[in-house]
Amino acid sequence: MCGIVGYIGNQQAAPILLDGLSKLEYRGYDSAGIAVYNGEEIITAKSKGRLKVLSELTHGGDAMPGTLGIGHTRWATHGEPSDVNAHPHMNKNESIVVVHNGIIENYLKLKKKLERKGYEFISETDTEVIAHLLDYYYKGNPLEAVTKIMHRMEGSYALGIIFKEHPDQLYAVRKDSPLIVGHTDGGNILASDVPAVLKYTRDVYFIENEEIVRMTDAKMEFFTVDEEPLEKESVRIEWDVNAAEKGGYDHFMLKEMYEQPKAIIDTFSPRLKNDGIEIEELNMSDEEIKAIRKLVIVACGSAYHTGVTSKYIFEGLARVSVEVDLASEFRYRDPIFEEGTLVVVISQSGETADTLAALRESQKRGARVLGIVNVVGSSIAREADNVMYTWAGPEIAVATTKAYSSQLIALYLLAMKFAHVRGKIDKKELMQMVSDLKKLPDQVELLLNNKNKIQKFANRYLAAKDVFFIGRGIDYAISLEGSLKLKEISYIHSEAYAAGELKHGTISLIEEGTLVAAVLTQEDLYKKMISNMVEVRTRGAFVLAVTNEGNAEVEKAADYTVYIPNTNKYFANTLAIIPLQLFSYYVSIGRGCDVDKPRNLAKSVTVE
Ligand code: AGP
Repeated sequence: MCGIVGYIGNQQAAPILLDGLSKLEYRGYDSAGIAVYNGEEIITAKSKGRLKVLSELTHGGDAMPGTLGIGHTRWATHGEPSDVNAHPHMNKNESIVVVHNGIIENYLKLKKKLERKGYEFISETDTEVIAHLLDYYYKGNPLEAVTKIMHRMEGSYALGIIFKEHPDQLYAVRKDSPLIVGHTDGGNILASDVPAVLKYTRDVYFIENEEIVRMTDAKMEFFTVDEEPLEKESVRIEWDVNAAEKGGYDHFMLKEMYEQPKAIIDTFSPRLKNDGIEIEELNMSDEEIKAIRKLVIVACGSAYHTGVTSKYIFEGLARVSVEVDLASEFRYRDPIFEEGTLVVVISQSGETADTLAALRESQKRGARVLGIVNVVGSSIAREADNVMYTWAGPEIAVATTKAYSSQLIALYLLAMKFAHVRGKIDKKELMQMVSDLKKLPDQVELLLNNKNKIQKFANRYLAAKDVFFIGRGIDYAISLEGSLKLKEISYIHSEAYAAGELKHGTISLIEEGTLVAAVLTQEDLYKKMISNMVEVRTRGAFVLAVTNEGNAEVEKAADYTVYIPNTNKYFANTLAIIPLQLFSYYVSIGRGCDVDKPRNLAKSVTVE
């Protein structure tokens, strides 16, 4: 999504803006721009393409002197990627400049009204409407103009605003799009996300909806949309700057794959206490847990896939009914909530628009919502009734790996807690599962060190046209994630199929040499799976099998087999996904794709 930064202080602003924007590149963008007040006027520089182009255009910021500025990386929503559509946008006499992340849903109506009042537009963006609307309401008091536009605009926005007549002030405004501010040494900074400010400060303020910040080089004031002063607490960010850098790996994705053991440990450790599982943030008594009759799990993409996995675990282990839904479907299907329903929304970024909307829809209908979120202080984390953080640390690669693995751990812990509280497993069984859980990090490490073997195999499939992933039960959920990983970073078409469903149509697509990845970690389904592998193999498929150590039987139906260490059947997803992540990564590398920032994708989809 778009990224915004802003700075006011005793340093030159432009280099700080460019540096901040470089830390937001992972959000996906197609153009960038900065604006600086140079003591007399507001000067802007913007360009289509990568940040490097803008940096060259401004000689690393040196060509734009001034200690007050705002910057932007744009992921086009209204108006194609171009210099003229790039932010920042200004009013006609260039006395007001704004950068924006989000979508102004009623911008056309506002644009028509402004045009009737003589305003002229040069871009196709919704953001330019904000600049002219501010011009329309500005009568000398910036705060008043800001609150007035907030009452007129509908949709989502995180804004950075400069008023030329008030060069000692920088304004930040938030509704639905993420925004943080913080003190630097001799100034103040605003940004869409933590990595952009870590170099300057560890103490940040998470701006809530409809809050306004007025910053000078020495002061920071918070206001409500009614111009009421607000007190806010800062949050200490423990991430180190390197954590948000590549740390020696070729790509963020590889680094984050190798961080999975630590992410798994960091997610389960705080919850393994007193010889059992304690999830304090759940804030539910045993009685309340027993009273739950249904879980509704809602998410998007890979987060949704962890929900599909957890359905088999909650139902199999805790005997609680689970419904899993895509957030983009859930929010519009007028869901019915029975008594005793707990909604669980899962999101790495905590800013995914559809998942946030599903959360709000659920709360509107009186349901209690638990968020499983990775980004501290994100919108979903703050709006859910309770939040269970996945402690994966900053995940920069668009294709999720360590956050996905941490989400699985959080769901395992929840299912184990529910199963034990509801009397479905006894203490001994619980402790055995805890012991298996604790082995997962080393087992993941072992599989990651298998990467050369996977890389060799991947290099045989760089020219593949179609790949199929098949599995039954939890293995079907693993197939969903394996397929998404491959297509999102290598651009090869792939599909995941419940193996039993193949013969209902899709098997007609199997041709000589088609790669079919068969996942078999569920012992009670081995035989069924092997017959599905034989079905596709006799039609010419090349079968890659991912299965448990010791299941040599599978080799008679597979052309290539990858074994994973044995673990509790409910934890198999954590291990089986590793070779599939590595396979996708190496196919993507081999095809020369942009692994960390795949085409058309953004790390956090904060618009519908
Ligand atoms: C996964 O690799 C993708 N980047 C995407 O499917 C992602 O999982 C989805 O957009 C949900 O994002 P969230 O977890 O931040 O809500």
